[in-house]
Amino acid sequence: MLVFAPRETRPTDSRCSLSPEAVRRLRALDPSGGVTVESGLGAAHGWSDQAYAEEGARVLSLEGGSYPEADVVVRLHAPGREELERYPAGALSLSFLDPFRQPERLADFAACRVNAASLEMIPRTSVAQGMDALSSQSSLSGYGAVIEAAHRLGRVFPMMVTAAGTLSPARVFVIGVGVAGLQAIATAKRLGARVEAFDTRPEVEEQVRSLGAQFLKIDLGETGQTEGGYAKELTPEQLDRQKEAMAQSCAKADIVITTARVFGRPSPQLVSAAVLERMSAGSVVVDLAADAGGNVEGVVPGEVIRTEGGVTLVGTQELVAMVARDASTMIANNFVAFLEYFYDAEEGSFVYREDDPILSACLLVREGAIVHPSLKPD
Ligand code: NAI
Repeated sequence: MLVFAPRETRPTDSRCSLSPEAVRRLRALDPSGGVTVESGLGAAHGWSDQAYAEEGARVLSLEGGSYPEADVVVRLHAPGREELERYPAGALSLSFLDPFRQPERLADFAACRVNAASLEMIPRTSVAQGMDALSSQSSLSGYGAVIEAAHRLGRVFPMMVTAAGTLSPARVFVIGVGVAGLQAIATAKRLGARVEAFDTRPEVEEQVRSLGAQFLKIDLGETGQTEGGYAKELTPEQLDRQKEAMAQSCAKADIVITTARVFGRPSPQLVSAAVLERMSAGSVVVDLAADAGGNVEGVVPGEVIRTEGGVTLVGTQELVAMVARDASTMIANNFVAFLEYFYDAEEGSFVYREDDPILSACLLVREGAIVHPSLKPD
């Protein structure tokens, strides 16, 4: 099996797809195959070309040329059309693709005859747990959101009783308790904050309590979730009820962290400008759903702004990039788990097992055609 890892190109994100350790595991999986990395791949994390070479990778300086022969190209962010033209035809590209919001990308893959698998579409099942890049990266985003907020808040998190006065603990309110929300709660608790949280999936209450945080109870009637465990979109009436019930928790919080997403749909707006006005000056709101429409009114994706009332709104994307080295280590392990699963030792290569539930869920383009039923053009 031939694997290639090109350098990432997004200036705001220094994560990379393979660590030297991941190269070692891939070489052990298939000693007669090969792993090629583009020169400088992990330089931002102190992973030199030599470190990759010592684990058995071939290191290539490409300077705009064609990509080397490969069965699979692993990349964090989706390649653009120009880059796709450099790919070897027939290779499988494995990366985040954001396919529901950027479906036009799939036509580019098809036109360049590059097969495409989407990290977001890997099912959240026990078998696929090791390949679950959404979880590994979301968890670190939740951590990053709290660190970012702490950095911008002019207050400490824990209660402090000192000769110079007593400081009350910071109050943190987390909206959406999936993987990112749980890690945000755990991180804020470790720093000593008083934490409250809400999610539309009722079973989350126990997880919130087990982390020592309070769960805000709101009766929304039937909310439900999809087969894959994702929250369903609420009705407009349910959303109004939720917003009203959360307003007070937001108003008294020093930090609000929102992570509420609905798979394949825009994120619901949950914190209105009117609620932001009720928050104290100096409070911080971090919207981890800013890239998907945003949970907070007025948030600007990729930017940090201050409202007239003095509330800082953080719409920074990829807060996970604050801990880019650990994030790269984790996503590299996710790539390796995927490749280990689909590698066939007898064939000595990556095998497209058509009937495999993981592959049929995440393979979007094959041999020049969009093959996923939810994304096929009409
Ligand atoms: P996500 O990023 O899609 O959404 C984040 C959270 O927002 C979810 O908990 C969702 O319920 C919540 N949400 C949606 N609308 C909301 C609203 N109006 N108000 C408040 N909260 C709202 O979720 P994530 O973190 O990707 O996890 C999705 C599901 O997958 C969860 O059920 C999680 O437990 C499950 N999962 C299962 C795994 C496994 O078994 N291997 C691994 C990882 C996740």
